[in-house]
Amino acid sequence: MHDDATAAVPQETGALIDHILTNYHAMHRADLASLIPLAARVEQVHADDSDAPKGLARVLTRLAHEMEDHMTKEEMILFPAMRVGGGAGIEHPIAVTRADHDDHAVSISLIRKLTGDLTPPKHACGFWRSLYVGTTTLIDELAAHIALENDVFFPRFAPAR
Ligand SMILES: [Fe+2]
Ligand SMILES: [Fe+2]
Repeated sequence: MHDDATAAVPQETGALIDHILTNYHAMHRADLASLIPLAARVEQVHADDSDAPKGLARVLTRLAHEMEDHMTKEEMILFPAMRVGGGAGIEHPIAVTRADHDDHAVSISLIRKLTGDLTPPKHACGFWRSLYVGTTTLIDELAAHIALENDVFFPRFAPAR
C-alpha cells in the first residue's frame, strides 16, 4: 500500500476484502512485474561481479508464480465464500491458505540469502539499489498482507492454529 500505509483497515468483511485486493494483491502483481525484469537487468549488467544477486530473477519468478496461484485461489474460492458469510467447511480452504502463506517464506529466505539480506554493496549502481529497495518493500508488504489475513481476518471464520 505504497502511498497509503496509514489508511485505516476497514472492519466490514466485504470492505476488508476489497482493501486486501487493492492494497496487496494488485500491488504485489505490479511490484513483481517490474522487479523481475529489473533483477534480470542487474544480473546481466553485473555478471562478472561476485556481489551481484545471481539467480534473483529466477527466485522472484518462482515467488510470483506461488503468489499468483495463491492469490487466485483466494479471489476465486475463499473470498467469495467469505463475502456471503463463510459456511460449513470453510476451515478447510482456510487451512490450505495458511499453509500457502508458510510456503512463501522459503522463497523469501532464498531472496535474502542471494542479496546479502537485501543490503547493496557500496559500489552498487542505482538500478541495483532500487532493485533491493523495491524487493524490501515487496517482502514487507507481503508480511503485512499475511499478518492481516492470518491474524485479523481468517480467525473470524476459523480459529487460528
Ligand atoms: Fe491475500
Ligand atoms: Fe493470502
